[in-house]
Amino acid sequence: MEEKSDDGKQPLEGGYVMVGKQDVSTIQGTLFIEARIRDDVVSDPQLEISVSKLREDLEKQLSSSNATFELLEDILAHERAAERKLGPFYQCSKSGLQSLKVVEYLGPETLEGCFNSSSIRIKVHVYALHHTPRSLAEDKDFPEAEITQMPHGLFEGKWDELVFEDDIKGDLIWMMTNILRFSQRFDGSGGEMNPLILLYGPPGTGKTSLCQGLAQKISIRLSSTYKKTELIQIKTAALMSKYYSESAKQVDKIFMKISHMCQEDPERFICVLIDEVESIASSRQAVMMRSESQDSLRATNALLTGLDRTRSYPNLIFLCTSNMLESLDSAFVDRCGLKRSVDPPSFASQYEILRSRTQKLIARGVIRSLEVLPSYIDADLDSDAGKANAGSKLLTLVKLIRSGNTHAQSGTEISARSLTQLPEQAILRYLREEECDLDLALDFFERFVLSEQSQSKRYEDKNANPENDAEESEGIELRGRKRNLKIVLEEDSTIDKLEEVLAELRRRAKEVTGQVKEVGEVKEVKEVPL
Ligand SMILES: Nc1ncnc2c1ncn2[C@@H]1O[C@H](COP(=O)(O)OP(=O)(O)OP(=O)(O)O)[C@@H](O)[C@H]1O
Ligand SMILES: [Mg+2]
Repeated sequence: MEEKSDDGKQPLEGGYVMVGKQDVSTIQGTLFIEARIRDDVVSDPQLEISVSKLREDLEKQLSSSNATFELLEDILAHERAAERKLGPFYQCSKSGLQSLKVVEYLGPETLEGCFNSSSIRIKVHVYALHHTPRSLAEDKDFPEAEITQMPHGLFEGKWDELVFEDDIKGDLIWMMTNILRFSQRFDGSGGEMNPLILLYGPPGTGKTSLCQGLAQKISIRLSSTYKKTELIQIKTAALMSKYYSESAKQVDKIFMKISHMCQEDPERFICVLIDEVESIASSRQAVMMRSESQDSLRATNALLTGLDRTRSYPNLIFLCTSNMLESLDSAFVDRCGLKRSVDPPSFASQYEILRSRTQKLIARGVIRSLEVLPSYIDADLDSDAGKANAGSKLLTLVKLIRSGNTHAQSGTEISARSLTQLPEQAILRYLREEECDLDLALDFFERFVLSEQSQSKRYEDKNANPENDAEESEGIELRGRKRNLKIVLEEDSTIDKLEEVLAELRRRAKEVTGQVKEVGEVKEVKEVPL
């Protein structure tokens, strides 16, 4: 008798179960490889690439290559290894593909992080990026949202850049796979669960980026199932201000448009991103208790009704973010298929974020260096061994950041957003030379952190003791020969800098009079907070 899976679908050879048009491994792991077609190949009308043929060829070749693959490796990066792995397909892959990246492994846990083609299943997704520029004008058919064709150049690499201590990215991929699997399984009749993911947490922790990166992943993963994927980013803030008092109507309208898009073309997949969802999903109970405007109460009702109406569409998924889980309506939270907190980066993640941003500046030529910065584990070993290399200096910087952060224990420490910006901001602020090497850059990073810390300390002190203001702003007085000099220390000044100023004044005095005069007397040196 033929074996059937519980939904009546036939199992495929090797224990895979066909679900809709997606097959999902049940007995062994699957390694996902993304093949990105080069932009010039896509735009050349003479070159027609058969995506399905390319996918089949690559899958067959890589599966039979008896080769070992590492997560995140670009198979095309090393010529000889690529030749071996791709065999007869090496030349065409090299000329037609921008990259061939091992992106994920889904399956039973393995210890190694390396996978041999003989013991796993290889699945290749071939894709080309869209590069349509963002229009500044509102889409006249959908002014409440920004619509982007996916996968888009804007979001390329975003997913890989995000660093988290826990495996939130892996969990989201699994969740997405399962949501898509089951929404197809129920064949349009709708499951119990809304295809809705909620990410919540403090500002700047990567919630929006995770959603955008996930939408990019979905579009690549589904490229063989759906003809196109679109990301609809709802302009939530504008909804509540621009359409104030009629936001419920607007929310209704948005859901009608989304329904229409899903039904009109079932071969199009739609990801809806609702950032800061609290503005249209605020707790109705709290609104009533505070006797606030009924507008937000009606908007929440419209959102819940809209979500229920669209629950059964297999080609739709909602991705929502919020900074304020506690202010969300409980009926909305109940509808989320996945709720996940996104936390500020841990010590190791802070190092990795700084490392990857610094490495990016090296790749862009902003920092002149050939160095490849070590991973956190290696930098930690180097630091323990007392080596004073770039990795251990960067690690010391992370320690400095944390030591100066009074909130480090309370979970509201420096955001990933600030860390991401730190290397570039520091160089922009301090670079006065033609070129910036790695040592100089690391000095700038330190100076920047000290300056920020001293500034925020001054701000805190000022708030704590406003009466000290006048005294503080007097700075340090230096009495010169003919007039009083008044030097107000900058936030990042140090004793060394003060001595430099004095030396310079002495030099000038010598030039004028031909003899050294006592040009400066430090009346008061307050220790500059470092
Ligand atoms: N964990 C992370 N690893 C690396 N970069 C990160 C991380 N989190 C955030 N970033 C970077 O910080 C910037 C801001 O991230 P994002 O807008 O996604 O944060 P958010 O959580 O949505 O913030 P908000 O709550 O203020 O909307 C982005 O450039 C992103 O790439
Ligand atoms: Mg955000």
